[in-house]
Amino acid sequence: MAQEDIRHPFLEGLSRHRGAPSTIIIIFGASGDLTRRKLIPSLYNLGTDNLLPADFLLIGCGRKNLGDDNFRQFAREAISEHARRTFDEDSWRPLAEKIFYLAGGYDDPQTYKDLAEKIEGLERSTSRQHHLLFYISTPPAVFKPILQNLGASGLSRAIGPDGHAATVIIEKPFGRDLSTARELNQIITNEFDEKQVYRIDHYLGKETVQDLLVQRFANSIFEPIWNRRFVDCVQITVAEDLGVGTRAGYYDQSGALRDMIQNHTMQLLALTAMEPPVSLDAEAIRDEKVKVLKAIQPLTLSAENADAVRGQFTEGIVGGRKVSGYMQADGVPPTSHTETYTALRLFINNWRWQGVPFYLRSGKRMARKVSEISVHFKRPPGVLFTESDKFDVAANTMVIRIQPDEGVMLLFNSKIPGLETRTQPVKMHFRYATTYGSNTPEAYERLLLDAMTGDATLFIRGDETEASWKIVTPVLDFWNDCGKRGLETYVSGSWGPLAAERLLWDYGHQWRRAGP
Ligand code: BG6
Repeated sequence: MAQEDIRHPFLEGLSRHRGAPSTIIIIFGASGDLTRRKLIPSLYNLGTDNLLPADFLLIGCGRKNLGDDNFRQFAREAISEHARRTFDEDSWRPLAEKIFYLAGGYDDPQTYKDLAEKIEGLERSTSRQHHLLFYISTPPAVFKPILQNLGASGLSRAIGPDGHAATVIIEKPFGRDLSTARELNQIITNEFDEKQVYRIDHYLGKETVQDLLVQRFANSIFEPIWNRRFVDCVQITVAEDLGVGTRAGYYDQSGALRDMIQNHTMQLLALTAMEPPVSLDAEAIRDEKVKVLKAIQPLTLSAENADAVRGQFTEGIVGGRKVSGYMQADGVPPTSHTETYTALRLFINNWRWQGVPFYLRSGKRMARKVSEISVHFKRPPGVLFTESDKFDVAANTMVIRIQPDEGVMLLFNSKIPGLETRTQPVKMHFRYATTYGSNTPEAYERLLLDAMTGDATLFIRGDETEASWKIVTPVLDFWNDCGKRGLETYVSGSWGPLAAERLLWDYGHQWRRAGP
C-alpha cells in the first residue's frame, strides 16, 4: 500500500467503514435493555446510512427461548422506538433477513457448540468467512462463563477474512473495584489477546468527546495556556435529571461512583488533562491516558476532611414534575446507603497540573441533564478594573459542552458600550447543531463500526481501567466503613448536596452553574 493510502481511521470518519470485512456480530444478552435501546437501533441506523459491511449478520444469544422470528419482532420494535433514523420497511427488510437467534445458558458448553454450528451454517450458506465480533452485554455475573466458554470452544481463536482475529466487546461494569477488575482482566487475557479486547465506554463514542482531542491538539491557542500557570481549576459535570427507573436492582449495587465516575467522568478527565500523544494511534492515545490517571494523587479520606462527597436524592421537582426520593424507588432496600451523587476533588501530580484542583461530579435527579467540562482560568491581576460597582470582571472560562446543546463556550470580559467605562462578562458560542446540523451518529454506531474494523482508539485498555479503579477503590472502601455516616441528601431537581459546594470553597472556588 502506498504511503499516501494509509490514512488514520480517526481522520476518516464513519465512511471509511464501507471497507469493513464481512462480520457476524454475536450479542450475548440479546433480549436485554441495552440491546433494545442502543445496539439494534444503532445497527439499523448504520444500515440505513449504508455503513454496514455487505456481508453483515447478527446472532442474538440469550437465555430466553425465542426463535428467529420472535427476535426479529423484538428488533423491529426496538428500532421503531429508539432508532435515530425513522423506521422504514425498505431499510428494515434487508436487515431483518440478517438477524438470527440462539437460545442457551451462558454457562452451558452446549450453547457454544450450537453457536459454532450456527456460524458454520451461515458461512456455508453465504459462501464466505466472517470476522466474529462477540458483544457481551449481560449482567457481569456471567462475564466469566461466557469468556471461558468462548475460549474452551475455540471461538475466541477464530480467524476471519484477511486475518481478522475474533473480537470481544465487553460492556461495563468492568469489575466492582480494583481487585475484581484485575481478576476480570486476567480471565479475559487467558482467553483473548489484549488486541482482541474492546472494553466499551460509550462516552468515548460521543462526537464531542472525540472533538476534545481536536480542540486541544488541532489548535495552537489553547495548548500554551492549558496548564498550572494559567488554569485555576477544572470542573467536570455529568448530571442527569432521570432517576434510576427500573434499574434499581443494578443501581443499588453500584452507585454513582461506580456507575458514572470510575468510567465516563474519569475518561473525560483523562482526555482533558493528558499530554499530547505522539500520534493518533490507539496505543499512543491510551498510553497518555494511563500516564495521567497514574499521576492522580491518592485522595484524602477522613471524616473531617474528605476529597469525596456522596449524596442520595430525596423527593423534589424535576422538569416541573414532582418525583419521589431514591429510597422510595421500586427495588431499593430500606437499608440502602447507595449514593446517587458523587463529587470528587482530585489533584494530578505532574509538571503540567500540580496544585490545580480537578472537581468531578455526577448525579441522578439533578436540575437538568448536562455533561460539560469547564476550564477556569486565573483572574487577571487586579490593578486596573477593580471598582466592583463598575467592573464586573469574571475569570475567563472555557466550557466544552458534551451534551446536550453540544458546543464550546468561551467567557471573557467586555466593555459595556457607553461613555462611561463599565465591564461585564460575555459569552462566545460555537454550537454543533448550527454549524453541522443535528443528526450526528449515536455513540454506539461509531463504536460498533470501530470494533468491526479493528480500531481500538475509542475503547479502554486493561491497564487504563485498573488505573481508574485504583483511584476510586479507596473511596469505596472508606464509604463502606462509614456505612450511612456522611451520606448526604439532596432535593431532586437541585445541583446536589451542600457538602459538594464545600469541597470547592476550601480552595476559593464554586461550581459553575452548568448549562448554556
Ligand atoms: C450509563 C449508566 O453508563 O450511562 C447510566 O449506567 C446512565 O446510569 C448513562 O444513565 C448515561 O449515559 P448518557 O449517554 O445518557 O449520558
